[in-house]
Order: sequence, then C-alpha cells, then structure tokens
Amino acid sequence: MEEKHTWWKEAVIYQIYPRSFMDANGDGIGDLRGITQRLPYLARLGIDVIWLSPIYASPNDDNGYDISDYRAIMRDFGTMADFDALLAAAHAQGIKIVMDLVVNHTSDEHPWFIESRKSRTSPYRDYYIWRDGKDGQPPNNWESCFSGSAWQYDDSSDQYYLHLFSQKQADLNWENPRVRDEVYDLMTFWCDKGIDGFRMDVISMISKDQRFPDGPMKPDGYGDFSPYCISGPRVHEFLQEMNERVLSHYDLLTVGEAAGVTIDEAKKYARSDGRELGMVFQFEHVEAGNGRGSLVEKWTLGKPQLKNVRAILNKWQTELAGQAWNSLYWDNHDQPRAVSTFGNDAPEWRELSAKMLATCLHLMQGTPYIYQGEELGMTNTHFRSLADCRDVEELNAWHQFVEEQKKLSPETMLACFDNIARDNARTPMQWDASANAGFTAGTPWIAVNPNYPAINAAAEVNDPDSVFNYYRQLIALRHTHAIIVYGTFEPLLTDDPAVYAYARHYEGQTLYVACNWTQDTVPCPLFDDKAGTELISNYKTHESGYLQPYEARALLV
Ligand code: GLC
Ligand code: CA
Repeated sequence: MEEKHTWWKEAVIYQIYPRSFMDANGDGIGDLRGITQRLPYLARLGIDVIWLSPIYASPNDDNGYDISDYRAIMRDFGTMADFDALLAAAHAQGIKIVMDLVVNHTSDEHPWFIESRKSRTSPYRDYYIWRDGKDGQPPNNWESCFSGSAWQYDDSSDQYYLHLFSQKQADLNWENPRVRDEVYDLMTFWCDKGIDGFRMDVISMISKDQRFPDGPMKPDGYGDFSPYCISGPRVHEFLQEMNERVLSHYDLLTVGEAAGVTIDEAKKYARSDGRELGMVFQFEHVEAGNGRGSLVEKWTLGKPQLKNVRAILNKWQTELAGQAWNSLYWDNHDQPRAVSTFGNDAPEWRELSAKMLATCLHLMQGTPYIYQGEELGMTNTHFRSLADCRDVEELNAWHQFVEEQKKLSPETMLACFDNIARDNARTPMQWDASANAGFTAGTPWIAVNPNYPAINAAAEVNDPDSVFNYYRQLIALRHTHAIIVYGTFEPLLTDDPAVYAYARHYEGQTLYVACNWTQDTVPCPLFDDKAGTELISNYKTHESGYLQPYEARALLV
C-alpha cells in the first residue's frame, strides 16, 4: 500500500542538546544564541528540522527535563527574544524547529507543585499523584527510572507523591481535566509562536492504572511499574483529545518517546489516519545490549549484537508498513554514542563504521534522526571518577548499586559508565581543535572529550571523505530519491552473521543495501548479478563477492 505523502516523512531531523551544543557567552553552558550562530553549519549539512531538547525554565535536576515554567526560557540558555530570533533565523534558512514537550511530570519547583504540596486541600493538590503510605512504607513497590522508590514522602501532609523519574520530577495527574487543559494551553502558546512540532517526552507513561498495584518484583528489590504505566488505560484517549484540541489545528511533526512500546501499541500512537501522533521512538534496538531487568538494571559492559538489532529493526520495518510510520535513530541524548555502541570507535575503524551505520539506518523506511556530533562520528568518553559525571541517572545509580547495595565495584561501575552512560552523549559538541573544542571560551559544564583535536567539525566540513560529508550525501539522497522515503522494505540475508542487507521497492525500481557490521572481509554475493547506479558507498572500490571491513553499499536497479 502506498504511504501517504507528508513533509515530515521526507525530512531529516537533527537533535540539539542545547546545554552542550554551542556556548555564545563564555559561561560554559550552551545557549540559544550559540545555536543561532551555528545554523549555517546545519544548513550545510542539509537537515530539514531541528529538535531542541528542553529550553524552558528549569532548576536542571535533569538538564531541563524538569520544567518549572513552560512559558519561559531557561536563564542559562537566554531569553524569549533569543528564542524568537532563533526561530526566525532558522525559518529564514528553511529549517523547521520542533520543541521537546515534557508533560508527564514537572519540576517540584513548578508553581503548581509548590501549591500542590502546601496541603491536602490545595486547589492544585490533584494536579499531581498523592497517595497515603502503607504501614509506614510507600503506597506500592514501584521503582523510579532513576533508582530507588518512585514515591517521595512529604512530611507536612503525611502523603507520598509519585515520581517515575527523579524526586524533583513529580508526575502530573492526567486524570484531572484541568491538568490536560493546562497542557493544551501551553502547547497552543508555542504553536502560535510558529514552531513546527513536538517531540513528546515519555508520552507513553502519562496514563497510570488508577489502582496503583504493586509491580512484578525485579532482581534489584523493587517492583516494575511498566505494566501499569506504559501505554496505560487512557493514554490513547488522552492523545486523541490532545490531537483534537491542539495538534489538528496546525501542520506539525509529532513524535512520541515511547520506551517499552510494543508494535501493536505503536500502530495506535502513530496510526496513519493521524488521530494521535506522527511517529514514536521505540527502544528495542538501543536496549538490545543492555541489562535492563538485571540485578543492576541497565548497567552493563555488553554491546548490542547485529543479530538482535537486525531482527528488531526488520520487525519494525515490516510490521508498521502501511499502518504507522517509523522513526529511525541510533543515538540521542539518553544513549551512548552510536559509533562506540553499534560500530567500532578504534581510530582505524571509526570513520568506516560510522558511515556504515549511517547507511544502514538512513536508507530504511522512516524519518531519520541525527544526534549532534553523530555526523562527525563523535565517540564515547572516559569517566575517571564520579566527579567526571553530571547526569542524575548516573549519580543515583552509583548511590544505589555501588554504595547502598554494593552490587558493583566503583571500577566496574565506571567501566559501565564508559560503555553506556548518558553523559557520553552530552560532552560538548566538537567544533574545532582550539581549546575546549571551540564549544566555549569559559569552563565547560562537562568536560570535552579529549579526542577533539582529531574529531571536529572544522576538520570534517572541508574533507570530502569525512563522516560529515557522508551524512550530507545521505541527506541529499533522501531529498532526491522518493524510493528512500516511500519505498517498501524487504529484509534480505536475515541469517547472515556479518551483513545487514535489505531492499527497497518503489515504482518499478529496487534499491539494494548491504552493510558489513564487522572488521573482517566477508562473503556477500548480493551485488554480483546486478547492474545499476551506486547511490553511495564508504569504499571507492569493491571486491566482487565480498564486502570489505565495515563496507556499506547501496545500488539502485
Ligand atoms: C526522557 C528524556 C530523558 C529524561 C526523561 C525524564 O527519557 O529523554 O532525558 O531524563 O525522559 O524526563
Ligand atoms: Ca552560555
């Protein structure tokens, strides 16, 4: 069935984590004026849309994912005038802007929560989820995503409030129609400014089972909230209401972050009749290597394997076809760096494997997302001690698994951080070889990755063989070949131990793609009997019957 054509299916999105992108005023923190300064770089790359991680007022317990005022700009990032200037400058260059919408929870410093906390009879009490404890214990056994109980006791009213994330991120009560009205109002405020869409933070968790039952016990001694909070009872009703009240009045890109989402649920969220969202982020492929649900949760030294990643992505490609639209990503601000995780960041393989991964993902069906620095092949960093870490998830996990439960030694935990910590993605963008990678004239809020003299934008932009220019080529191809956007997807060589291969079909043409995920030369007969146009490859010459280490090829027949 032919997919319905829309602009956001044809677009390539670039995610900016403002804190780490570009610091214009030398205080060590990225800001909006810094982003505006760097728009020409993004225009050169050729992306269509910027997704901005949260820029709203926030005490920064979770770097802006804890919002204290939805209609104000975070002081560190600038002013509303700076935002208006950024939006205008981006639009002038043909780049759209999508905002992060964080409405599963607010900061505990949001005025609603401050009021809510005052007493059991506060008119704002019901904006949040307050419950009595059970025999001096929290209302149930749910574990927060950032370690420890998901309930925080409040002395003054002798009740607990729910926080699926940190204690400073109190979950909103979506059962309350006034809360939903507030959310729709603030969304309308931003839409009326002329923004182009929303990435909706943990939107799959807004509806909770109102019985708040204990969850299945996890090995770390807490209960799993997922069965009662992920794609909960009223989530689709809420999103359809949001769509009716706000989204349908504008022409927006919408993508819901949906950890734990199943294919069947995704078909509802991203249904092609447009009654809810445009697409969702599923998590299966990025979690294929980690240990979620183990004694120490996600903390692991493991890496995702081709076999699993391929099975997962092929399943999403084939099962959503014609019914819902895929998002495509390896990387974001919550994941370690793609080339270190799925590829090989050793100097001799870094560029080849980064290009291979880009080919593999960008030629699938769906809307591709690039996370800042991914287009340079930026790598994971090294954490020498806890003092190098900034992320609340890391600090809390250290407390729980190293200090409290003593399940991991400090050395092992640091090695896990090197492998999988979110701060790997949050080291400053590497602009050039000058001090602090050209990110700031001051002291960066988190250390730059020491490899910036070798890996940086200035070096790559002018090098035709760079990872940057390879991404640029892939983006341009998507803009010129409808088969890349709308072609159907056919998995190939699904048992191959080394090669990820597939075909795309559209209007009588076929695009063959094959990617070698290993550092060995491996047999691959796919191209031998075919003549066509090579759209892209990370090698200039090929060996018939084989793929060279990390080789990627795409042939249009
Ligand atoms: C999402 C965000 C993540 C944040 C969490 C809580 O997963 O991407 O960065 O910590 O939600 O808002
Ligand atoms: Ca700054």
